[in-house]
Amino acid sequence: MSTVKIDPAEARLDEFAAGIVTGRGYDFGYPLNQKSQLIGFYRWFAGSGLNLAMVNNAGDPFDGSESHLKLNTLAFEREVIERMGPLYGFDEGNLWGIVTFSGTDGNNHGLYFGAKYLEKKTHRKPVVYVSDAAHYSSRRLADLQNLDVALIDSDVHGRMIPEALEKALQPDRPALVIYAMGTTFKGGVDDMDALNGVLAKHPEMTVYRHIDAALFGGYIPYTTYRDCLNRKVHPFDSIAISGHKFFGMDEPAGFFLTTMDVRNNQNPYEVSYLNCSMPMVNCSRSAMTPLKFWWIFQHTSKEEFIEQSETMLERAAWLKGEFDRIGWDAWLEPMSNTVYFRRPPQAIVKKYDLAPDHDDRLGGDLSHIVVMQHVTEKRLQVFLDELTASRKS
Ligand SMILES: Cc1ncc(COP(=O)(O)O)c(C=O)c1O
Repeated sequence: MSTVKIDPAEARLDEFAAGIVTGRGYDFGYPLNQKSQLIGFYRWFAGSGLNLAMVNNAGDPFDGSESHLKLNTLAFEREVIERMGPLYGFDEGNLWGIVTFSGTDGNNHGLYFGAKYLEKKTHRKPVVYVSDAAHYSSRRLADLQNLDVALIDSDVHGRMIPEALEKALQPDRPALVIYAMGTTFKGGVDDMDALNGVLAKHPEMTVYRHIDAALFGGYIPYTTYRDCLNRKVHPFDSIAISGHKFFGMDEPAGFFLTTMDVRNNQNPYEVSYLNCSMPMVNCSRSAMTPLKFWWIFQHTSKEEFIEQSETMLERAAWLKGEFDRIGWDAWLEPMSNTVYFRRPPQAIVKKYDLAPDHDDRLGGDLSHIVVMQHVTEKRLQVFLDELTASRKS
């Protein structure tokens, strides 16, 4: 027996939700995990009473003193960050971080913390080095923070060109280098060893390394490539990771992780009304997001994350193989779950919400598929069949 909704607002929302639910299986063009892990959380939440409260994480999860804003989830936020730290080679005791609003928010903190750290150490303003294939947020944020940017050319794989970095370096100023661990369109990974080799030619130059690992930062620690994001193997000072990409958060969110040394060399804003030092950019921050991450980490084992990561990478390799088999130009970078290819006809682009790009070196217009958890082989096969059929019509 179907129930007829009498609240018109609810009826409209139902209709809207049905469209989203139908569309999510075909969401191939953006790095969003459409397999939400949060059904159990919402069940708990609705019955918990917490849904009647306003909770706010205006405070530092690593500040031992008790915040004046007591209705917070800072303890859960800290647990989440402490759980993540070892994945990237941060040691307990020399780890600081927050749950952010997004990957962009994490990069904002990377640039802000990096610039303040370098200014404190050298009394000079840094130059930001970032490749033209890296996500635009770093450039936008450097603009916002009034930082000088040297935009470095990338190669056809989306990687910063070491020789171009060398040419652009201003060794008399500190360097704030943004490494891309998975560029947005091609999934290119900056060659940190080669780029560090360039930086090492100037031992007098103080360097801060921030990694934008929005998507790859989620799954790389669960793969055989894990050392590539381990700061004990490839040194870096901070990292930003999105939460709604690999980890399956159902709204924009992320993580920013750095060291206590970096955190302790920031502008010490002691905020008396919060009884807290506030090094982060935002005052009010979500208290719900840390709880949801905490839930996800309580209910997803390491083995499950490993399985999800391996499946995504295997499926991406399979997809690239299928493109090769049908003779459609396609590329897949190492460590990447993003297959990019000659752009299909518009109807296919529209159906699968395929993001566009253009590279004359690869013949012009391109699209990509980000093989996230919900992008199954069965759905990909339908896509491939439609692609093959489009050539005949
Ligand atoms: C490499 C990279 N960095 C940063 C971002 C921005 O992340 P967000 O959309 O979470 O702000 C994206 C978004 O796709 C990205 O691909």
